[in-house]
Amino acid sequence: MSLDSQWWRTAVVYQIYPRSFADSDGDGIGDLAGIRSRLGYLAELGVDAIWLSPFYPSPLADGGYDITDHRDVDPRLGTLEDFVALVEDAHAHQLAVIIDIVPNHTSDQHPWFLAAVAAGAGSPERERYIFRDGAGPDGEQPPSDWRSHFGGSAWQRVDGGQWYCHLFAREQPDLNWDHPQIREYFLGTLRFWADLGVDGFRIDVAHSLAKDLSEPLRSQPNLDRALPLDGTDPLYDREEVHEIYRSWRAVFDSYDPPKMAVAETWHPTTSRTYLYARPSELGQVFDFSLLKAEWGRDEFLAVIRRSLRDHQGVGGGLTWVLSSHDVPRHPSRYALPLGVTPEDWLRSNGSRPAVDPAAAQRRGRAATLLMLALPGSAYLYQGEELGLLEVADLHEDDLRDPVWERSGHALKGRDGCRVPLPWTRGGPSFGFGPGGAWLPQPAWFAAHSAEAQAAEPDSTLNLYRRALVLRRALHGDDLSLDWIDTGDPELLCFARRNGWLVVVNFSARPKPLPSGRVILASRSLDGDQLPGETTVWIVRP
Ligand code: GLC
Repeated sequence: MSLDSQWWRTAVVYQIYPRSFADSDGDGIGDLAGIRSRLGYLAELGVDAIWLSPFYPSPLADGGYDITDHRDVDPRLGTLEDFVALVEDAHAHQLAVIIDIVPNHTSDQHPWFLAAVAAGAGSPERERYIFRDGAGPDGEQPPSDWRSHFGGSAWQRVDGGQWYCHLFAREQPDLNWDHPQIREYFLGTLRFWADLGVDGFRIDVAHSLAKDLSEPLRSQPNLDRALPLDGTDPLYDREEVHEIYRSWRAVFDSYDPPKMAVAETWHPTTSRTYLYARPSELGQVFDFSLLKAEWGRDEFLAVIRRSLRDHQGVGGGLTWVLSSHDVPRHPSRYALPLGVTPEDWLRSNGSRPAVDPAAAQRRGRAATLLMLALPGSAYLYQGEELGLLEVADLHEDDLRDPVWERSGHALKGRDGCRVPLPWTRGGPSFGFGPGGAWLPQPAWFAAHSAEAQAAEPDSTLNLYRRALVLRRALHGDDLSLDWIDTGDPELLCFARRNGWLVVVNFSARPKPLPSGRVILASRSLDGDQLPGETTVWIVRP
C-alpha cells in the first residue's frame, strides 16, 4: 500500500484489543491469526488503519500492558512470523498498522526487573527502575506519598528491603528514563517494529516518562486525573519528556513515509496537551475531552470548541474518540441519567438504574455521526460498530482488571468493554473462536453479532459502513468548521466548508429538518422532521 506522509491526519483508526477480537485456535484467547482472518471485514467497514493494543509476552496483570519482552509476540497470540504476515495482509487490504508502545513500565516478570530484585540495593541493575529506601526508622514506610492509578500507594517493598515505584499495578514497575540504556532500548524497539513494516505507534502514558526524581522526592498525594497539568508536577507532563519525543521523531522521519505516532495522556486536554502533537514530536495526541463529556448539547459544544481552539497553532493533528478499552462503551454511558457515574452503575451490575438499550443506541449512534463529521482523525474501538453496550453484569469472580482488587472492590474496572466480540448469532463464543471466550459473553450478543447486523439494513454496522464511505468522500484536510446558531438550544449544528451540514438533535422531541439533501441519519427520519436524539448529515450546494 502506498501512504502519503500525512495520511494519519484524517484517518479513521480501528482499535483492536487482540485478546478479545477473534480466536483462531479455540483456546479462548484472541490471536494474530484471528485478526488476519477478519481483515476483510475491517476493509469492508471502511477504516483506514488498525491499532493493536499490546500483543507482547505478558503475565496479564494489566491486560497485556505489563510486558516481559517489547520485541516479541505472546506465544498464545502467535509468533513474529504471524505478525509480519498480518502486516502484509493488512497492507494488501489497504489498512495501515499502528502498534502500542508501553515505555513507562515493564512487567515485574521482565528479565531486567528480576535481575534488579536479585542484584540488591545500589546495584546497576536497580538503576533501570525507580528503587528507593523506605522512610521511617526501619524503612518500613513508602519513600513518598505517590499514589497508583489503580488504587493504593505507588510503592511496593521487595523482601523487606528497598521499595520500587509503580504508577499502575504492583506488577508494572516504572522504568527510570534518566538511564541512557532505557532511552536507547526504546529507540531500538521503535526501529525493530518499523523495520517489520508497522506504520505508526500509540504511546502509552506518554506524559509520565520524565519524572522529578531529585531527593527528597516531592510530595504528590493527589493523583486526581481530573486536574489539568501545568508542567510543575513531579510525575506528569514535565518539560523534559518532550526531549524524548524529539529523539523519537528522528527515528520516525528516517522512514519513507515517516512513521506516525499518537500520545496517550489521561489528564484533561489543554493547549499543553497538544504540545505532544508538535510535528517535531509525535504529531498526534489523543484528545479525550469528547470521550469524557456527558451526553448533552452544551457540554458537547463546549468541549469540541475548546479542542478546536487548544489544538490551534501547534501544527499537529486533531483526534476524536468516544470509546476505548479503558472506559465503559459510549452508548451505555450516554444512557445513564446525569449524576450517575458509570463506576457506580457498574458497581450495581448495571441495575441501578436499568438502562434502556434503545435510548443507549439512539444516543450512541447520534454521537458517532457527530464525531465522524468533525475535522481530523477518529479512533473507533472494536465492537462499537456493532452497537455493543457495556457488559455491566460480569460476575465478580470473572473480573480480571487489576482495578477491581486494588480499589478494594470499590470499582469493577474495565472488563465490561473487553468481552470477546460476537461474530455470529450462535456457535461456541458467538463465532469469536472454535472454543469458549476468556470473559463470558451475554446472551444478547447474538443480536449484536456481525452476522445479525450485516443482515439488517438499519443496523449500527450498516450505519458505520455508510458513514465511513461518505466520510471518505466528504472529509477533506480543511480543519475549519463553522458553528451555526439555529436559535434552538437543543440543537448542535455546524457546517464544513464544502457544504456538509451536520445537525444533532439532543432533545427527545422531533425538530424541523433544515433544508438540503439528507445523505445520512443516525435514525430513520420522519418526513420533514428530525427525530429526537438523532444526527443528520445534509449536503447543500
Ligand atoms: C494506559 C492503557 C491502560 C493501561 C495503562 C497502564 O492508560 O490504555 O489500559 O492500564 O496505560 O499501562
